[in-house]
Amino acid sequence: KSDGSQMMIDAGQKEFGAKQCNGWKKERLVRDLDHHGGRVIMVSPTDPQHCWRKVEEIREIVDQELGFAENGIRVKENTKVFFYVLEKKIVGCLIAETIREAHKVIPQRSPIRGGGQLVCCSEKRYKVWAGISRIWVLASERGKGIASTLVDAMRSNFLTSHFLTLDEFAFSDPTESGMGFAEKYTQR
Ligand code: ACO
Repeated sequence: KSDGSQMMIDAGQKEFGAKQCNGWKKERLVRDLDHHGGRVIMVSPTDPQHCWRKVEEIREIVDQELGFAENGIRVKENTKVFFYVLEKKIVGCLIAETIREAHKVIPQRSPIRGGGQLVCCSEKRYKVWAGISRIWVLASERGKGIASTLVDAMRSNFLTSHFLTLDEFAFSDPTESGMGFAEKYTQR
């Protein structure tokens, strides 16, 4: 198509992370090539339907891997999505939405039975601007800083005129892996 509606990301379920992407004519590049040769693009509420259909497709796949119950994106108008694209494939995804408050995690020393970690949160509510509802990186690409790059991009671009400090966003209902990452990211 030459009308700008061509998909950049054509990640069919089976080929997720392995499919060519041809370039949306109007992709919003928020981070140009990094040392891995990847870039970050953002999908905003006012972007065309075809972008959001793709977001929805990818969200479903990510949620399946995360074991999240099917509940979709709550309010599109409050949501921004970041894709990390490497060699024409989407290998990372971050979904952030406007939230108003969050609770701090209180670190626990003793693991609970079964090896997991008990997660306790402060009763106090803290004012935040954004909540990361999903962050995901293709298994073969983990440990290279891609999730950190996505969070950095979100912090620069969630609000138009303000870089979010570590206290101004939260990870919503993180998995154990998400907690491990968040702990590292916020302490660096
Ligand atoms: N446990 C402990 N530390 C971790 C973990 C983890 N699971 N994952 C990353 N880190 C550390 C890294 O070692 C690194 O530390 P370093 O700077 O000292 O080297 C630092 O965090 C940054 O790591 P990145 O390379 O930027 O993270 P990566 O690209 O590997 O992605 C992610 C991390 C997104 C958690 C990935 O492992 C993943 O997709 N996991 C499965 C999906 C998942 O559970 N996502 C979280 C869902 S919760 C939510 O979305 C709110």
